[in-house]
Amino acid sequence: SVMKRAVSGVQPTGSVHLGNYLGAIKNWVALQDTYETLFIIVDLHAITLPHDTQQLRKSTRDTAALYLACGVDISKASVFVQSHVRAHSELMFLLCSSTPIGWLQKMTQFKEKSRKEGGENASVSLLTYPVLMAADIVLYQTDFVPVGEDQKQHLELARDLAQRVNNLYGGRKWKKLGGRGGSIFKIPEPLIPQVGARVMSLTDGLSKMSKSAPSDQSRINLLDSKDLIADKIKRCKTDSFAGLEFDNAERPECNNLLSVYQIVSGKTKEEVMEECKDMSWGTFKPLLADALIEHLNPIQIRYQEITEDRAYLNKVLSEGADRATEIADATLHNLHQAMGF
Ligand code: ADP
Ligand code: NA
Repeated sequence: SVMKRAVSGVQPTGSVHLGNYLGAIKNWVALQDTYETLFIIVDLHAITLPHDTQQLRKSTRDTAALYLACGVDISKASVFVQSHVRAHSELMFLLCSSTPIGWLQKMTQFKEKSRKEGGENASVSLLTYPVLMAADIVLYQTDFVPVGEDQKQHLELARDLAQRVNNLYGGRKWKKLGGRGGSIFKIPEPLIPQVGARVMSLTDGLSKMSKSAPSDQSRINLLDSKDLIADKIKRCKTDSFAGLEFDNAERPECNNLLSVYQIVSGKTKEEVMEECKDMSWGTFKPLLADALIEHLNPIQIRYQEITEDRAYLNKVLSEGADRATEIADATLHNLHQAMGF
């Protein structure tokens, strides 16, 4: 393929909010038009912390369904479950032997998460999490990885590790073992996403909309019913200024709600200003609620269809895994040869 390849890992949470959708998922899905894209539901990563087994199975399928509902097009992109492609676990072990323990112990996320797990009681896989992530990426000779701020350090480690393995086992040494020589892995580049919208909480307008915020009232979940969306918007925090405006630092709620309206209605900022500048909250809120409902409704309908059709989802995931296995096995074959197996 002449298209550059992008790989995106998605945790199997099964439920996402408007912030995840407008800030990340929408942009990731758009990558499929420019790159050969692989969407991996990373269920192996989900077991690095104690997990609920029933929940994991359900969330894995629900997450796949959600991405498909959000527009992942299987004629352009592959969607698959990490554990369905055995090469991920195997490559992780092979990479571990080239990974200094110190590289992993200094990872910020390991330090934070292992502290929460009580230090010495944290699992070994929490420590090796970034090696698994490196495997997810380099298995596919990936050109680009869309990463948020929190994954930058892990991507840097993946690059260092790929380079290290290339140096240790690639080139002339590999050729002597009958290989083609040169690099075993492509070195992946970060893909800094287009500025996604930063969606703020509906209850304070100052903190970001988040799944960990205690109040469900503070967020719109992608799968919320029409009535619930209308109710949350009706009750969301506003102010007592006259008219509506963007970019007034004293009016964070106003800026947030107008921005959400702009994106989901597909209008320009100027068009929204023209339409809403003289509105009261009482006029604007139902308009926003309707636009949100109209935007999310097709996603929800599609999600229902996909989750109800087990055979279809199985087929998508199995085709995705087949495609991924083909690429992954070729990489593993090279590494085996180069490592002297
Ligand atoms: P949460 O903060 O709800 O736990 P995650 O940390 O799992 O969400 O983030 C998943 C993706 O969604 C990341 O790419 C993150 O940048 C994006 N994201 C999360 N919350 C928001 C938000 N309120 N606005 C925009 N993007 C967001
Ligand atoms: Na978070």
